[in-house]
Amino acid sequence: MLKNDFPKNFFWGTATASYQIEGADLEDGKGPSIWTEFTHKPGNINNGENGDVACDHYHRFEDDIEMMKELGVNAYRFSLSWPRIFPEGRGKVNQKGVDFYNKLIDELLAKNITPFITLYHWDLPLKLQEDINGWESRDIVNYFADYAAFAFEKFGDRVKYWITLNEPFCASHTSYFFGEHAPGLKDPKKSFQVAHHLLLAHGESVSCFRKIVKDGKVGLTNVSTWVEKADDSVTDEAVALANQFTNDWFYLPPAKGKYPDEFWKLIESLNLAPNVKPGDMEIISNPIDFWGVNYYTRQRIAKKPDSFFGYDVADPVLETTEMGWEIYPEGLTKFLKMAYQRYNQKPLYITENGMADADKLIEGKIHDNRRIDYIEKHIKATRDAINKGIDVRGYFLWSFMDNFEWAKGYSKRFGLIYVDYENDQRRIPKDSFFYFRDFLRRKV
Ligand code: FCB
Repeated sequence: MLKNDFPKNFFWGTATASYQIEGADLEDGKGPSIWTEFTHKPGNINNGENGDVACDHYHRFEDDIEMMKELGVNAYRFSLSWPRIFPEGRGKVNQKGVDFYNKLIDELLAKNITPFITLYHWDLPLKLQEDINGWESRDIVNYFADYAAFAFEKFGDRVKYWITLNEPFCASHTSYFFGEHAPGLKDPKKSFQVAHHLLLAHGESVSCFRKIVKDGKVGLTNVSTWVEKADDSVTDEAVALANQFTNDWFYLPPAKGKYPDEFWKLIESLNLAPNVKPGDMEIISNPIDFWGVNYYTRQRIAKKPDSFFGYDVADPVLETTEMGWEIYPEGLTKFLKMAYQRYNQKPLYITENGMADADKLIEGKIHDNRRIDYIEKHIKATRDAINKGIDVRGYFLWSFMDNFEWAKGYSKRFGLIYVDYENDQRRIPKDSFFYFRDFLRRKV
């Protein structure tokens, strides 16, 4: 398989997120985020770890970009930390935070790497959580739009690809339904309201974008999972509902201006439906330019009478990653095809794909053959989709380097580069780094 088998202007990149790599968490005027607080409460994170230092990318971004150049990518997806720019979420600007992102962007452009910015990858300013309960309050929509407009004004002259939110599924359900992410609540009713506010904030920021960055592209990145039945005892209706919960809920409103019918009826019957005001769905469905697809695995749906909806994800049957996620590249092809047809035939960018493995540093090397195999198969799966006529325009590996994997802390390594946390965050390229570099270089 060759890079030349892909469209000419295809973006090849890696992806990261601010809280997972930056560190310098309260430095140079940065305000705390909900993750600062959540990680410092005992019991929330594996091994009591936090993102105070993380990969220390804030201080080492120049060297990191140098390694990106060596890797040969032509794009890099990263997120802005809202509280690094607005320490309290609104009002006073932290100029040093703005300076940091300006330097990062300029350095990328100097190396011919196209920046893709995500505005929100979960690190909400803590002050907004304290003052208005964060995403539970409808007021957040305007605060987010103000922050977005500020970022478009400051960086939109040089950055032309923008993603409003990363995985609103996780920012709502993983955080408010399952309680695994900050702020760590288990309240389904709030969770659906939070999800609605996230989508509204997305829509509002798209209209700001149109006014400010006239020559740019804006999209939304979603959790994207291939959903199927585990066995024949599961009805098609049950699979459809699971797909509506996981995928449609965050893809359909921006695409079609409506929530998926059956799942809406289900949560309405349980008194969990969000409060939707007249005009909301029009805002949410402000047309976007592309979808960001984060694909890792599939979900096999099985009957589980004790679970909330009576169905849940079955135990894996295929080989799994260190996250316990089944390795299923065919699901990527299937998902891309389904998403393209179902959600308005917009260009698709795979904004995350990759695997955690039990990487071992042996004599200065990391032989991560399973990751190489995973990447190769998923790149092939992407090409299969393109060959079927699906408009896929980019592939971003998660992740550039090992980083803080949320509730799992530093125990799960996703990087092409090994970060030696014990030894001053030393960077060591894994075999997969060289594999990807060679793939990007090879012409014949
Ligand atoms: C995605 C997140 C990303 C990373 C990967 C493994 O859900 O967007 O930050 O944690 O999973």
